[in-house]
Amino acid sequence: MRLPDYIDFIIIGSGIAGLGTAVNCSKYGQTLVITKSTLLESNTYFAQGGIAAAIAPGDSPEAHYKDTLVAGADLCESDAVSVLVQNGPKRVQDLIAMGTHFDTTPSGSFDFGREGAHSIARILHARGDATGAELASVLANKAKEIPNIIIAENCLVADLIIQDNRCIGCWVLNDEGQFQAVTAKGTVIAAGGCGQIYKHTTNPWVATGDGIAMAYRAGAEIVHMEFVQFHPTALKNHNNPLFLVSEAVRGDGGKLITEEGKRFMVGVHPMEELAPRDVVARAIYHQQKAGREVFLDATSIKNFSSRFPTIYKACTEVGINPLTDPIPITPAAHFIMGGILADTYGRTNIQSLYVCGESACVGVHGANRLASNSLLEGIVFSERIVECLKDESSLPAVPPLSSHLEKPVVSAPVLEDTVRETMWSYAGLIRTEKDLLKALSKLDEIKMSAPINAYTLHNMLDVAKLIVSGALYRKESRGGHYRLDYPDQDAHWKELMVEHSIGSQPKLVLRTKRDSVLSFNDL
Ligand code: SIN
Repeated sequence: MRLPDYIDFIIIGSGIAGLGTAVNCSKYGQTLVITKSTLLESNTYFAQGGIAAAIAPGDSPEAHYKDTLVAGADLCESDAVSVLVQNGPKRVQDLIAMGTHFDTTPSGSFDFGREGAHSIARILHARGDATGAELASVLANKAKEIPNIIIAENCLVADLIIQDNRCIGCWVLNDEGQFQAVTAKGTVIAAGGCGQIYKHTTNPWVATGDGIAMAYRAGAEIVHMEFVQFHPTALKNHNNPLFLVSEAVRGDGGKLITEEGKRFMVGVHPMEELAPRDVVARAIYHQQKAGREVFLDATSIKNFSSRFPTIYKACTEVGINPLTDPIPITPAAHFIMGGILADTYGRTNIQSLYVCGESACVGVHGANRLASNSLLEGIVFSERIVECLKDESSLPAVPPLSSHLEKPVVSAPVLEDTVRETMWSYAGLIRTEKDLLKALSKLDEIKMSAPINAYTLHNMLDVAKLIVSGALYRKESRGGHYRLDYPDQDAHWKELMVEHSIGSQPKLVLRTKRDSVLSFNDL
């Protein structure tokens, strides 16, 4: 379909952040949601565990705040975390009002789940372990009902259109294979993360870092890219993506064991299997490096098949009965804590360009995201963005645009796989300077042979390079970033962020929080 040449608001992406923003901003103008696959193909849809919010008796936003900061390893923005946890309960009520059914106990109260690094059971879940599917469906149905929202599926945004540091829209390859410019008063990137640049990931095929890459090329500030979260427990097999085995299984009593049946988290961290994700993922990785297979033993969970129906089905389909057999698991890339630098209204350094959800770095996750805070981030900040987005003024007369883009889009599966292999081998859970340099040179080699119109491949390469260069620069270990050659947290790096901005030359900038620039290096 041919998309409108002009619209009030463009939303790129259709997960909770994108659809949440669309529903909110459609009150103020015509809104176009562009998604490169179908409306439900997003990380949101596949989220299992749930959404964290301080609602349970005995819980409080203060306790949720504290848990989030501890998991974030001294790198969270405290103001942003306050916004997240204070607004969480209200936004959950909005989701319920839209038709979301969270699971309840026989007495009718919410059935709160427990996950890693949470001090209390505070995770709301739906249909057992299908929370993301429930939320994505509710939001998609809501968006489809609103006459002010146009949904464009199977349309690829190739680049943003920037004029005088203002984003005035984007170049889209529509579903008829035609490039067209769509201009708008305000553009929101809600295009999710980039797990698909790694060989092993829980993220669906669409998660190739497109939003972060196009914002970087447009001149947006990108930060904290070295912080990649590896989920400890994906079902181990040869699939891409790997099927997630929710942390909630450990919250309900699942234990990590080796093939000899020995638990190995005891003594590694006081919270054992429910330690922060980075700690658990590395402990599993070390077992694997020592030649041991690792399993999640959930046989003590008597109601497994009703509490975790999606996981039960996925396991039985590959011949594993979780009621009697330990589940073979492996860590897999799951979430990026870094992204496009934004304030708590989603504003970036580019006028009229906003960002929400996993593509953003608002500062709520620091070096390591607390479990089930990502759906919450999407819904809380999608409401705040609209506060500013609604006041975007009309576009100045837009001069005729000519496309610099070449068609047709080609996909380059072999080169894309080489990126995945490179990132897994040299920039994964455990990093060293030697490996990271190897990764950089391999990525440069791939770039040389990448066809100019392989848009996804170029996005993957841009994001991969941001991760590797950030990881090289941060000479310490913290949260999701672990350097074997700098294995400890270094107080010097506390509260600092590595920033990438394209300018004439990519460079890394060290900042204290979001203000004073301390130093920079040209790459
Ligand atoms: C999970 O269910 O383990 C994933 C939830 C999350 O990523 O926060």
